[in-house]
Order: sequence, then C-alpha cells, then structure tokens
Amino acid sequence: MNILVTGGAGYVGSIVAEELLRQGYQVIVLDNLQQGHKGAVAPGAEFIFADVCNAEALDGVFQRARIDAVMHMAAETVVEYSMTDPKRYFHNNIVGGIELLDAMLKHEVYKLVFSSSAAVYGDPQSIPVDEDHPKLPVNSYGESKLMFERILEWYGKAYGLKHISLRYFNAAGASESLGEDHRPETHLIPSVLKAALSKNSPVSIFGTDYPTKDGTCVRDYIHVTDLAIAHILALKRLEKDGSSCIYNLGNGNGFSVKEVIEVAKKVTGCNIKTVSASRRPGDPAVLIASSEKIKRELNWNPQYYELKTIIESAWKWHSKSPEGFKKRNSFTGKN
Ligand SMILES: NC(=O)c1ccc[n+]([C@@H]2O[C@H](COP(=O)([O-])OP(=O)(O)OC[C@H]3O[C@@H](n4cnc5c(N)ncnc54)[C@H](O)[C@@H]3O)[C@@H](O)[C@H]2O)c1
Repeated sequence: MNILVTGGAGYVGSIVAEELLRQGYQVIVLDNLQQGHKGAVAPGAEFIFADVCNAEALDGVFQRARIDAVMHMAAETVVEYSMTDPKRYFHNNIVGGIELLDAMLKHEVYKLVFSSSAAVYGDPQSIPVDEDHPKLPVNSYGESKLMFERILEWYGKAYGLKHISLRYFNAAGASESLGEDHRPETHLIPSVLKAALSKNSPVSIFGTDYPTKDGTCVRDYIHVTDLAIAHILALKRLEKDGSSCIYNLGNGNGFSVKEVIEVAKKVTGCNIKTVSASRRPGDPAVLIASSEKIKRELNWNPQYYELKTIIESAWKWHSKSPEGFKKRNSFTGKN
C-alpha cells in the first residue's frame, strides 16, 4: 500500500514514515520544509517538496502515483504563536487541509488519518480527559484542529471519506535514528536536553503559579514510536471496516515541568539550569489523557510508559545529534 504522509519531514511524521516502511508500506512524504528537515525523511520514502495549500501541486502528487491512504500531519503547531497570528493557523491547518481533502476526493482516495491534538479540549474540566470531554479550545491552534475534525465529519457524511482523528497529548522521545528538532524549540523535553548539552544556557519554566502540585504545568508524555504504531493501527482499522472515529493518545500519567527537569537531570547526569518566566498564553494548567478507547478498540499497547525511558530515548538521539538535522535543506537553504 502507498501512503502519503504530509508533514513527513517533521518530528512525528518522520517517525510515522519510518514505522510505516518498517511494516512494509510504501511511503511518499510531502513537506514544504518550513519546519521539517530533508535529513529527517525516512530512508526509503519518496520525498516531494510541496505545500498542502497548493492545489495544483497536490493534484500532481495524486496523479503521479496511486495513493491508498493519507496521514495528514502538516500543520502550524506552536500554541504560543497561534495566539498572536491565528490567520496563519487557519490558513495552513484549515485551508491547506481542505485542499488536501479535495485532491483526495478528486483522485478517489477515501482514507485519512489526521493528527489532531489535546488542544481541542482547552482547560480540562475533569482529569483524565476522555474523547467525550467538552471541546472548548483556548488557543487558535486547538480551534483549527477541532474545526478540521468537524470538516472531516461532513466530508464523511457527504462524500464517503473515512477518517480517524488521533488527538495526541505531548509527543516525546526519539527512534534510533530520528528525533525532535524544531527551530525554535518550544517543547519541554528537547529544550531541557539542549540545555543539558549546552551546559550553560538555562531552560525557561513558563509559569510557576499554576494550580498544580508544584505550580508548573502538568502534561502527559507519549513516546513518538507508540504514537507511530497507533497510526498504523488506525490505518488498519480504516482498511478493515472503514469506520470513522476519534481517539486520544496519551499515557494517562501527568508530569509537571519541574518533575520532567528532575528526571532529565538524572538521565543526563547534567545540572540543568532553570529560569522562571511568565506563563505562555494559551497553555492549560493540566492535560492528562484517558486513552482507554484506543486500547480497547484497536488493542494499542504503548511500550514506553515511564517518563525516564522516554527521556532516555530522546537523550540518546540528542547526544548523537547535538546539532539536530544539521545538513542544510537544498530546497529552502534552511537547516
Ligand atoms: N508534537 C506534539 O506533541 C503534537 C501534539 C499534538 C498534535 N500534534 C500534531 O502532530 C502533527 C505533527 O507535529 P510535529 O510535532 O511533528 O510538528 P513538526 O512541525 O515537526 O511537523 C510538521 C511538518 O509539517 C510541515 N508543514 C507545515 N505546513 C506545511 C504545509 N503547508 N505544507 C507542507 N508541509 C507543511 C513542516 O515543515 C513539518 O515538517 C501536527 O499536525 C501537530 O499539530 C503534535
């Protein structure tokens, strides 16, 4: 089967592509490299430098090869910036998403796995958060993900699109050869590990006055390989009975920023300096998932449930690649 992975040069997409190849699928990665890296494209995948907002380019992609299903990960992803520049988020995540769906329908491709987010829930009213929890996003990033989930429902009803939305909590960790390299890095674990590598630069703790056990935000970290395996289980479900669905993906355990830093100190053996900073707009205090539904229905069985092992895998990759995907992208001239 031929799977198109949009955003496949990014963090999660590259490791999903790697896992798809490992399980015998053929993979086409489509990415505009605004955040991803050519060097992150899984060996064995075909790479297409294109933008999901470009209908003509998408048409060309679907014309060239018979695509059986799409995994849609390309997106604007930084919560903080989505508070100040929502139009960028709605353009890429909604307009780009619709262009993709329309190209799929035109070329009679009816299976889609969509990277949604815990950000659709906003500030949780109860913990753990299951899929029926009220959806009240507090940032335009989460709003764009929720809007696209709803668009998928309508495309399902009207045009027969079969879709599974996976609402990830915090992806973390690395595979043997691929890891997380965002520029700028806004995610906690890679920021902490970069601070450990640099020895001097401190890691910022955004908000120390949240209503949590130590005043810092609490998040649920899920290993990126467990996430990748969930995508393939979702794809198999679409192949089997074609029923559309939504699943949370998390570990069910919450760790505060300070707890993550303490575990990272033990894993790296480095004294990681910290500096307190003000809260980032759009950050809920606590996000912890219930992923019982995907465990029950798709037999998803995460292998990395301890924070220590998740951070160890990330540390292994960061130590091996201290400058991330260093080689310059020949397409963009950027790293
Ligand atoms: N990382 C997480 O913890 C997390 C949590 C929840 C949801 N998600 C979702 O998972 C997906 C992947 O996240 P990630 O952390 O790997 O992000 P990422 O930024 O590393 O990857 C996104 C990729 O999409 C590409 N891209 C962006 N806009 C594009 C466009 N218009 N056309 C073509 N390519 C484009 C980028 O260049 C990048 O390679 C995103 O949809 C994100 O919203 C991620």
